[in-house]
Formats: sequence, C-alpha cells, structure tokens
Amino acid sequence: MENSSENFIIALDGGSGTGKSTTAKLVAKTLGITYLDTGAMYRAVTYVALQKGLKAEEGPAMDELLKDLTLGFDSENHILINGESHEQEIRGMLVSNNVSIYCALPSVRAAMTAQQREIGKKQSCILDGRDIGTVVFPDAKYKFFMVTDVAVRAERRLKELLEKGEKVTYEEVLKNLTERDRLDSSRANAPLKKADDAIEIDTTHISIQQQVQKILDYVGVVA
Ligand code: DC
Repeated sequence: MENSSENFIIALDGGSGTGKSTTAKLVAKTLGITYLDTGAMYRAVTYVALQKGLKAEEGPAMDELLKDLTLGFDSENHILINGESHEQEIRGMLVSNNVSIYCALPSVRAAMTAQQREIGKKQSCILDGRDIGTVVFPDAKYKFFMVTDVAVRAERRLKELLEKGEKVTYEEVLKNLTERDRLDSSRANAPLKKADDAIEIDTTHISIQQQVQKILDYVGVVA
C-alpha cells in the first residue's frame, strides 16, 4: 500500500460463483479493512420484494419498499434486513433465480449504489459485485475482475448449497449461474463488465489462498 493512513477502495467484480466473496472476506481480514458484499444487498431487496409479492417493476410499491428497508451487516458479514438476519433465505435458489430481474430496476440500483458509496466513503473497503469498478467506485485504487470456467463455478456452488442443506442439482445450479450472468451482463444499467483498468484473475485452476495472494501482491502487502 502506498499510503496506509489514506482510505482506499478495492473493487472486486466478476460473474456469479467466481469466488469473489470468499476471496474478498479473506483479503479484508488480512488487511484489516471492511468487506462489503454488495450482492447480498441486491439479494435482500429481492427477498423482501418476493415476501411482499411485489412484481419486478418500478412504481410506488417498490419505492416504498426501498424507503422502508434498512440494511446492515452483523459481525460475521451476514446481511441484516431491518435488524434481522435472513442469510439462509437470501442464498437460496428462489432468491438466486429472481435477483437478476429485481436488481436491474433503476430505482433499486440507485438506492444500493448510494448506500455502497456512503459506506466506502468512510473507511477502506473491499467491495465485491458486478459494477463496483465501473459505476460505484470508478476511481477505486485497486480493481480486479475474476473469471472462472462455468463448469468449475457450478461444481463449487453446488457443493456449498448441498452443505447448507439446499436440495438442488448440478443442472439447476449451472442454469442459474449462466442465466444470471446473461441477464447481469446485458442489462442497460450498470451491467456486469470488466473495467478497462481492472486486473483480470482467472480462478479456474487456482485455490482460494492463491486468489487472495494475487490480490495482496498487487496491493503490495506481504501476508
Ligand atoms: O454476488 P451475488 O451472486 O450474491 O449477487 C447476486 C446478484 O446481485 C447478481 O446476480 C447480480 C446482482 N448484483 C449486481 O447487480 N450488482 C452488484 N454490485 C452485486 C450483485
């Protein structure tokens, strides 16, 4: 790090299931900075909208949902929705299969982007997402973009979900990852896209520890 007394942002973007959150958590721990899981924020909005039976469309009902929604994180980085943890629900297939439609709404993106900037303004942070290096913090000091072969991503995600007790097949997980990347990359507003100045990391054949080390090497920290 050039100047450790100065706050800095690490933007970590990439497709679904590329291992961003695991990597970001470990980088944050090593550097002693805040980790912000921006995907969890979009998952939380989707979960609440589904609970309320709201369609993925703009309008007063969505505006009200966003106005009444208070998001926070507990000490384990689990998102709190109006003070309560819904970790299991936001990671389940129902939310995963709907999040790309709700998160494309301009009102949802504007509300989440504003909150992410507010948090990042106050402290050094690593944020993982899809549009951190392009839209949320285009001036981030460090930008990374993770890519992984989709079959490897599906295997890894399937294992995680099965361990959590979710009843899901490899085919369902593969379809969800592929479809989310398609929708997330093709939306008009803040699509999933590598920033021109981001460093690409291919995680297909490397371990989590190696992914973390690559980022630490660029940031200039000896772990
Ligand atoms: O990181 P994740 O898979 O938990 O993210 C869930 C969804 O949220 C993802 O399919 C796209 C959306 N998302 C987004 O649009 N922008 C972000 N910065 C983070 C996530």
